Amino acid sequence: MYNNISLQASKLVELANRVKKNSYKTKIVTITSGKGGVGKSTITSNLAILLSKKGYKVAVLDADIGLANLQVLFDVKPQNSFFDYIEGKCSLQQTITKTPYENIYLFAGISSFEYSSFKNSFVFSNFVKDILSLDSFDFLLVDTGAGLNDYVKEFLAISDNILAITSTDPSALTDVYALMKMLSLNKRKLMLCFNHTKNYQIGENICNSLITLAKKNSLKSDFMVKYLGNISSCSNIATTSRLRKVFVNEFRNDEISLQMELVLRNLLLNIE
Ligand SMILES: Nc1ncnc2c1ncn2[C@@H]1O[C@H](COP(=O)(O)OP(=O)(O)OP(=O)(O)O)[C@@H](O)[C@H]1O
Ligand SMILES: [Mg+2]
Repeated sequence: MYNNISLQASKLVELANRVKKNSYKTKIVTITSGKGGVGKSTITSNLAILLSKKGYKVAVLDADIGLANLQVLFDVKPQNSFFDYIEGKCSLQQTITKTPYENIYLFAGISSFEYSSFKNSFVFSNFVKDILSLDSFDFLLVDTGAGLNDYVKEFLAISDNILAITSTDPSALTDVYALMKMLSLNKRKLMLCFNHTKNYQIGENICNSLITLAKKNSLKSDFMVKYLGNISSCSNIATTSRLRKVFVNEFRNDEISLQMELVLRNLLLNIE
């Protein structure tokens, strides 16, 4: 299924290379997963807070067209979604929603959207390029929906910093391996974070097994899988989300916050 790079994908690579050559200051990190509900949006919002606490200006793009929920996690009511901009209904500035957190801005998405009308038109890649052209943000975190559909692939193609969230669940691991296979065709690396995983070592061991499997199956030898760390299960994560708060902001010195900080530190070490 993923053995051939489609024409669309190679065009996207071209666009991505153009973005890189222009060397905007904004670094794009695309957060993805094969399996749904593994914690992408939770981890995206927490990483955004940690980045802002380091003094970075962060834009977060809610690119989940299944269930756009970052506006809930950041407790904002956006006037416009980025689809309004794409459809020419508002300016780029009007799609930027200030969050209650200093230096964090949201490009809100919408739930349920018919991608086929935009397929092959690169509107999303061009939209990302427009954000970069603002030269206003240090980071753009893109929270994709689950799965490897064409829509998600467009956001993967535009970024060299792809962070996959997985759990130790066999179906999540199968999906992550499918992602590795696909990305190995035209990317240099994939970063992995294990959510719902009790300790660092467990995630690292499984990550090493995935790398061994990749070698056995002859995935491109220069494709790297970088393990960033683990995040344990913790009921307070779900509780803070329900209360429209972000965990690391409420439980700064909690062990889970320290795990998230380690994930961020490793992310910053591996980012291009
Ligand atoms: N480490 C954790 N411990 C406990 N609950 C968690 C943890 N991580 C995420 N959750 C909870 O799991 C649920 C799903 O998380 P989240 O919405 O972040 O997943 P997602 O990958 O973005 O889902 P989707 O694929 O639907 O976009 C949420 O209720 C969230 O609060
Ligand atoms: Mg989500």
